[in-house]
Amino acid sequence: MANQMLPKARLLPPKHQKGNLIRITPSGQACGAQVTGVDLTKPLSDETVAAIRSAWLEHHVLSFPDQAMSDDDLERFTRYFGDFGHDPFFDPIAGREHIAAIRRDADEKSPLFAENWHSDWSFQAHPPAGTCLFGITIPPVGGDTWFANQHAALDAMPDDMRAQYEGLTAIHSAQMAYAPDGAYGEKDEGRSMAIRPDESAREIQTHSLVREHPETGRPGLFSCMGYIIGFQGMEQQQALPLLQQLYAWQSRDEFVYRHQWQANMLTMWDNRSVLHCATGGYDGHDRLLHRTTISAYQA
Ligand code: SIN
Repeated sequence: MANQMLPKARLLPPKHQKGNLIRITPSGQACGAQVTGVDLTKPLSDETVAAIRSAWLEHHVLSFPDQAMSDDDLERFTRYFGDFGHDPFFDPIAGREHIAAIRRDADEKSPLFAENWHSDWSFQAHPPAGTCLFGITIPPVGGDTWFANQHAALDAMPDDMRAQYEGLTAIHSAQMAYAPDGAYGEKDEGRSMAIRPDESAREIQTHSLVREHPETGRPGLFSCMGYIIGFQGMEQQQALPLLQQLYAWQSRDEFVYRHQWQANMLTMWDNRSVLHCATGGYDGHDRLLHRTTISAYQA
């Protein structure tokens, strides 16, 4: 999206950055903002980190263009916001414990990775607060990541529909994706990404479907069908149509921000507030991004 189309930027006071002003420019869509006036290849002051955290909690998805970050820079930036999360089912890149490559080669024929709405690793007991993704090789067309604001989705839900979901405990599992017979399991061939399916993907965890954000207290919907495989105490026959109806609602256009990538752009999102979904449209082009996760928030 051309910068001229973005709504007016908000300038934070100079104390947030030595000699620079952090500019936070909302996307004008359901969530998301672009952040400039900060150099992520250098250590950040406490004030700058606090300003970024506050913008992240407000806009849920932040992108930082023109940051020629190394893997060390990516790790340092991630740690400002918490410990590293635990990334199951991926091998990390060589020489790093906490960075995974989101990769697709130009001639790859396997189904796109993550082309379905989800909140990262929501099947964990303490799912990651956030994810950082750094664009290295970005195709000239396609490959956007879409984000759906789950506070807005809950706020706009009609009362009779909300009554169907309020109070439900969702059952989460990675089985459909990462079990040996899952989408990325043993039959998934020719994939360049280092995905490692495992029997442990069948484990389950429960989380309230409608819940307050642990830092802002704002109510929202957490995760969706895919990692959510049912509801506690409910027959699957009843749960599946409810999950399908919910998925369609959660991903309505009015809740979605369509994020366009550039090389050297860092994007961080809040898994507690948004769902995200990879998109295609770049066959014949390589795409490579490096990803870290930020562990659950400890108050
Ligand atoms: C992800 O879900 O981590 C990947 C998103 C993308 O490739 O756009």
